[in-house]
Amino acid sequence: MATALCPGSFDPVTNGHLDIIERTARLFDDVIVAVIRNPQKTQSLFDLEERQDMLREVTAHLRNVRIDHFTGLLVDYAKQQGADAIVKGLRAVSDFDYELQMAQMNQRLSGIDTFFVSTSPQHSFLSSSLVREVARFGGDVSSMVPTAVAARLAKLFRSPGPEEA
Ligand code: PNS
Repeated sequence: MATALCPGSFDPVTNGHLDIIERTARLFDDVIVAVIRNPQKTQSLFDLEERQDMLREVTAHLRNVRIDHFTGLLVDYAKQQGADAIVKGLRAVSDFDYELQMAQMNQRLSGIDTFFVSTSPQHSFLSSSLVREVARFGGDVSSMVPTAVAARLAKLFRSPGPEEA
């Protein structure tokens, strides 16, 4: 039984993330999608529970995927869960430097290898941060995120109607 760990902020999960999770689920017996409790990069738009709920909704069709969260070092969580590998998506060369550094550090700390899956070309420009920005200013992100996520973004950013203003 080989278990893969797909970690991330998932704020929110995009079609790019889902593609990587689905492909990982075809390669490994079990997949843990682990949401970091406090993303360092930005103040998160969705709280931890919401980010996990959205992931649960959009991966409900994948029987060997479960959603969890972690704090602290990824490798400590990976060891605690008995994960055999960390799996990450690589969108472009710009991702590579940092991802390689993290993979090497994680390997040194724990012996756990990171496997990179190349993002499908139709998702290579996608990031949660851009989705948040576009949605915040009323842009259409419905082709970039699962329907359940698009609905939550629309609810969050819809302009108040006359009776609510
Ligand atoms: O979706 P993101 O924000 O690119 O995910 C980054 C994440 C959560 C995978 C990365 O920041 C992480 O592993 N953080 C946990 C802290 C840790 O282990 N740091 C050392 C990395 S070498």
